[in-house]
Amino acid sequence: MATDAASAPAPTGPVPFKDVENILGLQINTVPAESSPEEYADDVLISALPIKLAPGTQLKLRCYHGFWLPERFVPSAVALQRRFVPRPDDVIIASLPKCGTTWLNALAFATMARRSYPPTGADHPLVRLNPHECVPFLDALFSGGGARAASLDALPSPRLIYTHMPHAMLPRASAGVGCRVVYICREPKDTAVSLWQFRRSAHPELPVSDTFDSICDGDNTYGPFWDHVLGYWRASAACPESVLFLRYEELLRDPAENVRRLARFVGVPFSEAEEEAGVVRGIVDLCSLGSLRNLEVNRTGLMDGLGFPRKALFRKGVAGDWANHMTPEMARRMDDVVADKFRGTGLNFQ
Ligand code: A3P
Repeated sequence: MATDAASAPAPTGPVPFKDVENILGLQINTVPAESSPEEYADDVLISALPIKLAPGTQLKLRCYHGFWLPERFVPSAVALQRRFVPRPDDVIIASLPKCGTTWLNALAFATMARRSYPPTGADHPLVRLNPHECVPFLDALFSGGGARAASLDALPSPRLIYTHMPHAMLPRASAGVGCRVVYICREPKDTAVSLWQFRRSAHPELPVSDTFDSICDGDNTYGPFWDHVLGYWRASAACPESVLFLRYEELLRDPAENVRRLARFVGVPFSEAEEEAGVVRGIVDLCSLGSLRNLEVNRTGLMDGLGFPRKALFRKGVAGDWANHMTPEMARRMDDVVADKFRGTGLNFQ
């Protein structure tokens, strides 16, 4: 049950993960090198799983329980299911890549940490750190068997964490009891264009068709996308107090109302005094594309351990950009896949 923010005891988390990393003297949010093909994750022989390369990259994907996970994160999926014990007040942000993860991480961090860090403060963590440096990436922390995941224990509650794992890979406790999950999905054609543009930051010659085909064929990273989306959609329908299902396009249309929804869902609704003081507006402005994109920390440098430029995370941020890059035939093919896969589910992308 949500409590009024004015009467609830002051939460101590979330804190910027990068700061904890520095205090502990660890590099815990980084992604390890590719696993060797012989490696086992517990009793799972990774080299025996079907393999593909993500289009235009050297990223190896392995099909594990029906999902094309980056090879180096198969051990994460195994360890997550078997060893991660969420705290009841954990909040997990979940998404497919390029669906607005960075934005939602920033909004959730700014919302949950607003008492310690007022959104208009010049020293707000999101002014000096990339949103992904504030929020730990579960998939990276649990790779290599999860030894580095012990660092999660150092975080004060409530913890804010993010993952690209399908719902089926989360520990059972996150599904219906215990912690809360916030999922963000996006119109698939725009997701495809965003992913292609992102990959082009490293491979400028990459044609849109390769990324497009992999998404339609269901072997995109962490895909099939329809199973990823439907896993969270169904969990949200079954357990709306545990899984909040958001859409990127809704956030674009009305970011303030969605920040209020998010705050209510995680149990820290805005008080009247906060509303009057413009705290919601402050959070929306702090996390807007224009604001984040122009910060030095997001304009320069590479993402820790991932090797791509931070600025590639902040591009156009609109709905409908697919029309500038897809032929009508491509759009029709993807719409047909979507209509087919989501028929009868109550979810559509019209
Ligand atoms: P586009 O490539 O369509 O512009 P992710 O964070 O999951 O990788 O998603 C990236 C997409 O979110 C990119 O979409 C990016 O521009 C957009 N994005 C990043 N920050 C945003 C923000 N603050 N507001 C709106 N969109 C944002």
